[in-house]
Amino acid sequence: MQKIKIPAIALVISLCIVIVAVLTTNLLYREKEVVKRGFEIEISSDGKAVAKKEEVQVDLASMMKLADANRGEKIFKKCASCHSAEKSGGNKVGPNLFGIVGKARAATSGFSYSDAMKSKGGSWDKESLDKFITKPKDFVAGTKMAFPGLKKPQDRADVILFLETRKN
Ligand code: HEC
Repeated sequence: MQKIKIPAIALVISLCIVIVAVLTTNLLYREKEVVKRGFEIEISSDGKAVAKKEEVQVDLASMMKLADANRGEKIFKKCASCHSAEKSGGNKVGPNLFGIVGKARAATSGFSYSDAMKSKGGSWDKESLDKFITKPKDFVAGTKMAFPGLKKPQDRADVILFLETRKN
């Protein structure tokens, strides 16, 4: 009897391990699906692997639905060395950002903008803010904002929501 019992227990334990492993893999896989970006490898007709840079457009509107202004305030610390978002904060290395969402570009008085920013024109809606803080030098070539950008779409949405709260 003893000889039969031990393998039976071992079998049950192994089954449990397999089930847990499958569930964990599924969870990890699903999490990766949510924010899909980066490179995809394709095999071209001659059999060579081709790195295809995929411009995965993460929809800002759906990111904004998940955004959190408190989280944005914390992320804004990365900007705060150069920017104040308070009404009376004045300009620092960068212009004051109070009321920036919806405001005309390069329009804060007393700040000396780069020619690139001055000639960009238009105003800062959420979409263009998102593009600018993704990689400032891509959106305004020649900007003097020396900031590499925020890589995570959710971080950008959080900061934009925080900035929206900083207005009259
Ligand atoms: C190293 C300093 C620095 C950091 C960090 C920085 N900025 Fe800037 N920012 C600047 C400067 C300088 C300018 C003016 C750019 C120009 O004139 O080309 C600017 C301009 C801007 C503008 C345009 C303002 C206007 O009046 O048109 C926005 C919006 C902005 N920054 C947002 C941000 C956000 C959001 C962050 C953080 C995610 C950030 N910046 C981080 C220095 C910085």
